[in-house]
Amino acid sequence: MERLSIKGGMPLNGEIKISGAKNAALPILAATILAEEPVTVSNVPHLRDVTTTFELLGSMGIRFTFNENNSIEIDASDITNCSAPYELVRTMRASILVLGPLLARYGQAQVSLPGGCAIGARPVDLHIRAMQALGAKVVIEEGYIKASTPKGGLKGGKVFFDIVSVTGTENILMAAVLAKGQSIIKNAACEPEVSDLANFLNKMGAKISGIGTDTLIVDGVTSLSGCEYNILPDRIEAGTFLAAVAMTGGHVRLKQMRPNILSGCISKLCSAGADIITGEDWIEITMQQRPRAVNVSTAPYPGFPTDMQAQMMALNIIAEGTGTISENVFENRFMHVQEMKRMGAKIELHGNTAICHGVERLTGAPVMATDLRASASLVLAGLVAEGETLVDRIYHIDRGYECIEEKFASLGARIHRLGD
Ligand code: UD1
Repeated sequence: MERLSIKGGMPLNGEIKISGAKNAALPILAATILAEEPVTVSNVPHLRDVTTTFELLGSMGIRFTFNENNSIEIDASDITNCSAPYELVRTMRASILVLGPLLARYGQAQVSLPGGCAIGARPVDLHIRAMQALGAKVVIEEGYIKASTPKGGLKGGKVFFDIVSVTGTENILMAAVLAKGQSIIKNAACEPEVSDLANFLNKMGAKISGIGTDTLIVDGVTSLSGCEYNILPDRIEAGTFLAAVAMTGGHVRLKQMRPNILSGCISKLCSAGADIITGEDWIEITMQQRPRAVNVSTAPYPGFPTDMQAQMMALNIIAEGTGTISENVFENRFMHVQEMKRMGAKIELHGNTAICHGVERLTGAPVMATDLRASASLVLAGLVAEGETLVDRIYHIDRGYECIEEKFASLGARIHRLGD
């Protein structure tokens, strides 16, 4: 199994380009199922979850042409089957995103239930209830969600989410665009990736208003056409690099990034002592001191992203003072705590809150990546630890970070990948 070897202690300096957002690419690729003509999507990040999505869509008969500059032409005019098998869904929960578009365009879908996951139960009940609100019939059989529409297809309806769900909102949005009549989605997720999907759907001819708010109004259309679309930058990748610089010190410029979608994170890093300046599509961070501990409480957008929680904990464990981290979105997202403790971190866990007492130095150790963002936080800890840190099971990191070791190495970090 591949591992990352990191020898800490180097400041980070230079510039890197931020990749396209994983969490926008996955729903946008799923949404191409809706189009009757080929669609060209660019700025698609080269990630394991994206490859899994290609495998999933490919197994349905969708064809791809890979062009230069991470641009891909996708032709979904001829789908041969409407199912997402267990082998693919179990490696990527986001496979559930094909449910809405398959139902909307073909009137049927069979999607394996995703099962448990390292960061909590993560059920899909909200997705199912939302589909039912538009008239879908759903049964769970043999580990599969088997859904179909009545004659005449889905009908516009009112959908209210008890809990804000990002992929739940995306799934119902993709279903509603081809439903008859109007749908109103309340307590919708406002994440920029949801807006990116909505903008993409509108570019294909959908009629969605309220984009960026918690109420989305969708007037169903009869078909969607081809278009060209550029995926928005990955705010979590950008946040991870900013947190890294705030820990190691140095001066780094992030290119091709929209700072306005990362405000919560930028303001926390400024409280930690970083100097951050931004332009329309770039961010520059300078850090010249040991970071100060900060308090973080995760919440749906525009709150502090749960996907940056582990990285902020990495910052707090070496910061001056004590900082608390409260995780409010997922119930079991502190798997990195035990691994950080093996590197010398002082963390007390009280329910969904971690109290981090900053230490002056961490020591390198073999550690185990348990999920995507936890793995990133261990890389960050490794960048400041004395000696060598070996991060195992990095397939988690490859799910969501494009060329992470190459990007860090180009900024001066001593990091490389070790083979089997
Ligand atoms: C998405 C992101 C993930 C991010 C998360 C929260 C993608 C591909 N993934 O995941 O990176 O960490 O948003 O910002 O975009 N819930 C239910 N029932 C459901 C669905 C969700 O109870 O049917 C609960 C979850 O257990 C969780 C909360 O709702 O406690 C929010 O989860 P949700 O927003 O759905 O996460 P994902 O869309 O899976």
